[in-house]
Amino acid sequence: MIRLIFIICAYQASLLLVATTKISNPRVCVIGAGIAGLTSARYLKEAGINFTVLEATRYVGGTWRYDPRVDVDENGLTLFTSMYKHLRTNLPKPAMEMPGYPLPAEMPSYPTWEQFYKYLQSYSKHFDLEKHIKFLHHVISVKRDENVWRVKHKQVVTKEEYEEEYDFVVVGTGHYSKPHMPSIPGEEKFKGTIIHSHNYRLPDPFKNRRILFIGAGPSGMDISLDVAEVATRVVHSHHSIANFKTPFPENYVRKPDVRELNETGVTFVDDTFEEIDDIVYCTGYEYHYPFLDESSGLTFAPHSVVPLYKYLVNVNQPTMVIMGLVVRACLVIAIDAQARYTTALVKGNFSQPSRDEMMAEWQNRYDSLKSQGRPLSHIHLLDKKEDEYYADLTKESGIERVPPVMFKIRTHDAKSKLENLLIYRNYSYEVLDSENFTVSLEKSRNKTEVTAKEATMWS
Ligand SMILES: Cc1cc2nc3c(=O)[nH]c(=O)nc-3n(C[C@H](O)[C@H](O)[C@H](O)COP(=O)(O)OP(=O)(O)OC[C@H]3O[C@@H](n4cnc5c(N)ncnc54)[C@H](O)[C@@H]3O)c2cc1C
Ligand SMILES: *[C@@H]1O[C@H](CO)[C@@H](O)[C@H](O)[C@H]1NC(C)=O
Ligand SMILES: *[C@@H]1O[C@H](CO)[C@@H](O)[C@H](O)[C@H]1NC(C)=O
Ligand SMILES: *[C@@H]1O[C@H](CO)[C@@H](O)[C@H](O)[C@H]1NC(C)=O
Ligand SMILES: *[C@@H]1O[C@H](CO)[C@@H](O)[C@H](O)[C@H]1NC(C)=O
Ligand SMILES: *[C@@H]1O[C@H](CO)[C@@H](O)[C@H](O)[C@H]1NC(C)=O
Repeated sequence: MIRLIFIICAYQASLLLVATTKISNPRVCVIGAGIAGLTSARYLKEAGINFTVLEATRYVGGTWRYDPRVDVDENGLTLFTSMYKHLRTNLPKPAMEMPGYPLPAEMPSYPTWEQFYKYLQSYSKHFDLEKHIKFLHHVISVKRDENVWRVKHKQVVTKEEYEEEYDFVVVGTGHYSKPHMPSIPGEEKFKGTIIHSHNYRLPDPFKNRRILFIGAGPSGMDISLDVAEVATRVVHSHHSIANFKTPFPENYVRKPDVRELNETGVTFVDDTFEEIDDIVYCTGYEYHYPFLDESSGLTFAPHSVVPLYKYLVNVNQPTMVIMGLVVRACLVIAIDAQARYTTALVKGNFSQPSRDEMMAEWQNRYDSLKSQGRPLSHIHLLDKKEDEYYADLTKESGIERVPPVMFKIRTHDAKSKLENLLIYRNYSYEVLDSENFTVSLEKSRNKTEVTAKEATMWS
């Protein structure tokens, strides 16, 4: 018993040590070369920090690179991307742009995946990041051992394995890759095809067919409308409370939750039945960190990763950050801010709070969710707290603040989506200053000035 207590004390002492000891010339491992990895690389490089990026594929840009294939790639690696051919961004240009590296003026207000992917490639070239990236290196395990991180990775072609020591780990592996599959009674009887939106590429296979879509997240709304252009009938089952005012096409019908499937169709909880040919689950994704274990001090569930300070720093092992784990935010902008915060942290520009202080910040958010009866998954939701989050990151780390106009643009965009999903991408947004922006309808060039006052009304 005494020994056990000793071990616990020693463990806590080592945590304290980690939180307070400043490592000189820290070695940083960045996992993934999507937006999280690229922004981290840019700022770490600028700060003169020793770092390596490990990327499993041959490419930068992560999920933004469309691949017509599904399942596995040429190296037998599970295909990571969830991109589909007709995708256009669901946020306007200013909310998709990396600071100091503008999106080309000739690009439309809501770029296609291809235009945005090219932008990410040129970003990587412009900041000369590729020489810091080890492509085709798949991270298979990251373990905390004494005061270092042991990172194992595998060259996916030669299968050669490497093990290295790092002082700091930046996890940038994204979280839109492992499909969350619902379990629906009678699914095994159904005779048609069933796919998850992760594997949706093109509407063509659904031509003249009757399709059931489940889920009304961004993918569910976007893909069902994409498919409605060629399908005989789109049956969209969801329980969103959002007031979609879109004039949906005639072949689109909304239904409540599914009760069960049989060989030929689907029965909903209101007892109605629809004959269908195919099903697309737009039921979202699960957090998936197969390379981390209990030595990370994190607790993983399909829809939560805890405890994280400022939605980012691993409270129990504060030399690790998990990037981009915020939901309902300008994700590109948020990830860039997190990369700048992380660099300032590694650089020693500010000192990290104690473990107790970081835990208390997390606990507060957790208690607040609990008292509102909300699920743990909401711990990653920024939504109305987005601008406050940017202010907090700046207050603690001294990084340049993300201007409030970003949150205002996202709020305006969210409202336009409720008004009409078919035309919200016709609006173009222009930032005037840190608080104000203009919106204009690309077609009519009818410019409406949006003042700070009006913008506040919308938030
Ligand atoms: C279909 C779709 C549409 C989207 N549309 C928008 C949009 O319009 N606007 C917006 O702001 N956001 C959008 N997003 C969110 C999108 O995830 C972010 O824009 C952004 O791409 C997140 O970047 P990331 O670097 O965190 O992750 P990712 O882009 O997912 O990159 C992760 C990288 O890590 C690599 N990797 C994974 N595991 C390992 C490992 N074990 N070892 C080594 N490398 C590994 C992967 O190969 C990948 O390159 C969309 C997402 C999807 C799926
Ligand atoms: C960077 O770290 C690696 C080990 O990860 C080490 O081999 C190398 O010498 C370091 N470079 C510098 C400039 O400190
Ligand atoms: C599936 O269920 C519907 C509604 O109950 C029914 O009309 C239909 O015949 C069933 N199909 C089969 C193949 O059993
Ligand atoms: C760290 O602080 C220095 C000096 O104030 C500043 O020039 C630098 O930009 C900061 N770095 C980061 C990443 O914030
Ligand atoms: C929206 O833009 C499309 C082209 O992208 C155009 O065909 C359509 O007429 C526009 N709608 C409105 C209402 O401006
Ligand atoms: C935003 O616009 C309002 C009204 O024109 C103006 O008073 C305010 O100063 C502007 N904000 C900034 C940061 O310039």
